[in-house]
Amino acid sequence: MTELKNLDPAKLPRHVAIIMDGNGRWAKKRGMPRTFGHKAGVEALREIIKMSDELGIEALTVYAFSTENWKRSADEVGALMGLLLEYFTKELEELHRKNVRIRILGDIDGMPKGTERQQQALHKAIERTQNNTGLLLNIALNYGGQQEIVRAARILAEQTAQGSLKPEEITPERFASELYTHDEPEVDLIIRTSGELRLSNFLLWQCAYAEFYITDTLWPDFDREAYLTALQAFAGRNRRFGGV
Ligand code: IPE
Ligand code: IPE
Ligand code: MG
Repeated sequence: MTELKNLDPAKLPRHVAIIMDGNGRWAKKRGMPRTFGHKAGVEALREIIKMSDELGIEALTVYAFSTENWKRSADEVGALMGLLLEYFTKELEELHRKNVRIRILGDIDGMPKGTERQQQALHKAIERTQNNTGLLLNIALNYGGQQEIVRAARILAEQTAQGSLKPEEITPERFASELYTHDEPEVDLIIRTSGELRLSNFLLWQCAYAEFYITDTLWPDFDREAYLTALQAFAGRNRRFGGV
């Protein structure tokens, strides 16, 4: 069994991003509705947050709901929104107590009608934890990587049109400063569960030099052991960033 103590702290990622995928298949295997898988997925997330905090990882970004996930059935979207509200209502104080800072990546105010309570809960969670100094927990919600990049481009275009920004001042650093993750370290490790080999519009900019770790494990089964295995794999990678 992989042990926490065997992990070299110097080889830990500063920023881990996770595509928490496979809840539906996990439930299907058990002859249960997809929602059952999403509930189990929340449990898995709780443990991974706890462990990231214990390990002293700086930032953890989890993909909770994409801009494309609104395509799912009203039933499933409704259930996911219900879980979201429950999560933020139940967990907020515990996360706050752990000194976790919550940030939402995505368009909260652009969420559809009927999600007002969710929007309120998200704003409350951000405000409540904004001065915390522990783990930075980014929850990507109503999030799309392309949308995030276009949003940044528009902000810069407006400043250029107003004359406060020169086109030649638009550098990768300046551009990144308009992303949701503006002051955060680049993603070091991106984990995707359930074996799919794609990014699904997640952190397109931030993953420029991220190490990929893909596992067939379905998200509700992604436990401490699975996370440690991923971190061990990361510790063994040779990152070159274009050098030799
Ligand atoms: C990930 O699990 C959770 C969300 C996208 C909200 P899925 O619901 O995508 O599960 P699969 O991929 O259908 O098994
Ligand atoms: C990505 O998973 C989104 C989240 C995990 C929230 P999807 O299940 O939506 O991705 P695709 O449809 O398989 O690409
Ligand atoms: Mg999926």
